[in-house]
Amino acid sequence: MTRIRIGLFDSGVGGLSILRAVRRELPDADLLYVADSAYAPYGERPVREIVDRCLVITEHFVERDADVIVVACNTATAAAIATLRATFPDVPFVGVEPGLKPAVARSRNGRIGVLATQATIESDKFRALVAAQPGSAEVHLRACPGLAAAIEAGDLDGPEMTELVEWCCTPLRSAGVDTVVLGCTHYEFVRHHIERAMGTAVEVLDTAEAVARQTERIAAATTRRREDHNGHVDLRTTGDERALGEFADRWLPFPHTTTHVGLLTSGMVALE
Ligand code: DGL
Repeated sequence: MTRIRIGLFDSGVGGLSILRAVRRELPDADLLYVADSAYAPYGERPVREIVDRCLVITEHFVERDADVIVVACNTATAAAIATLRATFPDVPFVGVEPGLKPAVARSRNGRIGVLATQATIESDKFRALVAAQPGSAEVHLRACPGLAAAIEAGDLDGPEMTELVEWCCTPLRSAGVDTVVLGCTHYEFVRHHIERAMGTAVEVLDTAEAVARQTERIAAATTRRREDHNGHVDLRTTGDERALGEFADRWLPFPHTTTHVGLLTSGMVALE
């Protein structure tokens, strides 16, 4: 009997926050994750390069018969999901975008803060999302250059990290937002610092569970049958295998394997 196979990827470790939620929703699915750490951070790269990396990684998953692909990265979703869908029309993709709509629904004072990468904030897709919110909502955007890279480097609790998070949060605190959206999957791993910097009256929201539920809905619609036992979690990185292993051991409460996959290059799709 074949199990559902789900491919997930991010510029690095950030998408593990999505993988964790998908695992809770679909414990019997085989999860294949690519951390593109050799090319992280995506948020400070030109769009064309991000799109090329997304195409190459998608090809890796297609060759491994993934039933569903989760783009577990806001930056990659904004830059590339339209191209991915056009290039691989038979593959169901799930993207990740900052949860503005739920934040607007939950906010009491109508002031929302968004922490995200520069590339996400500058993208047309995200601009359209902001424009679609009701006029009564005041959305404060804060790009956090260097934050994803610092999380990728792994020292999550040193003084530099707390300072950097404080610097990212200060304008949002001054603006009086009562709800903050984590618009980058990496930021989940410093949520404790963000909550401390924003204060207890501010609610911090992420999209991991919503993405996991959407993945479950799409997976349920595929024709493959599911077995009643734990799926394998296979983590691959284009960067340092040991760093990924250490990060995953801290944050993933279920068995997983970690391997290095080289830089991954394209054999199938044409890159510009
Ligand atoms: N984790 C990615 C996101 O959700 C971005 C981090 C990066 O800049 O690579 O946007």
